[in-house]
Amino acid sequence: MATASLLRRVLVLLTLFCVNDVRSVKLKSDEHTPWTNEFETVELSCVIESISSPSPRIEWKKIKEGNPSYVYFQGRISGDLENRARLREPASLVIENASRTDTAQYRCEVTAPDDQRSFAELLIDLVVRVKPVMPKCAVPTAVPVGKPAEFLCSEEEGFPRPKFQWFRNSEEIPIDPKTSPRFMNASYTMDPETGVLSFGAVRKEDGGEYFCRAKNEAGYSECRAQKMEVYDLNVAGIVLGVVVVITVLALVTAGICCAYRRGYLHSQQKDDKFKAPAKSDGVDYVRTEEEGDFRHKSSFII
Ligand SMILES: *[C@@H]1O[C@H](CO)[C@@H](O)[C@H](O)[C@H]1NC(C)=O
Ligand SMILES: *[C@@H]1O[C@H](CO)[C@@H](O)[C@H](O)[C@H]1NC(C)=O
Repeated sequence: MATASLLRRVLVLLTLFCVNDVRSVKLKSDEHTPWTNEFETVELSCVIESISSPSPRIEWKKIKEGNPSYVYFQGRISGDLENRARLREPASLVIENASRTDTAQYRCEVTAPDDQRSFAELLIDLVVRVKPVMPKCAVPTAVPVGKPAEFLCSEEEGFPRPKFQWFRNSEEIPIDPKTSPRFMNASYTMDPETGVLSFGAVRKEDGGEYFCRAKNEAGYSECRAQKMEVYDLNVAGIVLGVVVVITVLALVTAGICCAYRRGYLHSQQKDDKFKAPAKSDGVDYVRTEEEGDFRHKSSFII
């Protein structure tokens, strides 16, 4: 008698447990971390694995920087996905013409009122990749042999953050010069993360047309090639010498000119000032002023 009652109880419990297990809503996803390129279509997969309720309530929320907002609520798409998204029955969300602002977490929530366990949710991490735009490149135009040179490349739009490559005369510059016989003797370091290509001491062979490429999973863009000239320091010395001589000549000429003009104006001014009021002894004034001017002139030239 007692045994039978116990058995019945166990059976009831087991049945309840089994029924419980069947009568609960369960979700799964074909892809928890989907990605798409900008302007393309992507599906956020939310598959109902088991359910007993005939009309479950389905909601989608977007979670960006910790703030949830409704994407699908009461049978309607809302927010910035309006007109760009639709529900693919029963619970997946399809986003068309994906935008970079769609990169976020999305939560699929299903409420099944007739199920014992009546609520289930799952998280989807969506990444919308953005092709890099044309990077900004800085190439030194002329560098003397043996001097350092730095090349800069930057790009702000690409997502995920692009990696950078440099090209010389359309040939890729390896990250490690030792790996290529052609670049073996070059003294540079190159950082694909920052886009900085840095020569310790340029050689004649380093001259050429340089451009940079910014590349990520969505594609790549390049800047226009810019020429770096490498010139000999001897030439530089000659050029510098010529420049110095020309500068000195110009300065001397300007100095003489200036001194002459000042002196000329001075004496004229003084002449005008002092000649008029004192005609008789004006000669003395003019003479002293002229002496002053001479002193002035000589001090200027020294
Ligand atoms: C896609 O979205 C962009 C803005 O993000 C818009 O300029 C473009 O016209 C849209 N394309 C289509 C086919 O709707
Ligand atoms: C590199 O330098 C070595 C020794 O200085 C020289 O023999 C070799 O030809 C150079 N290689 C290139 C590619 O310039």
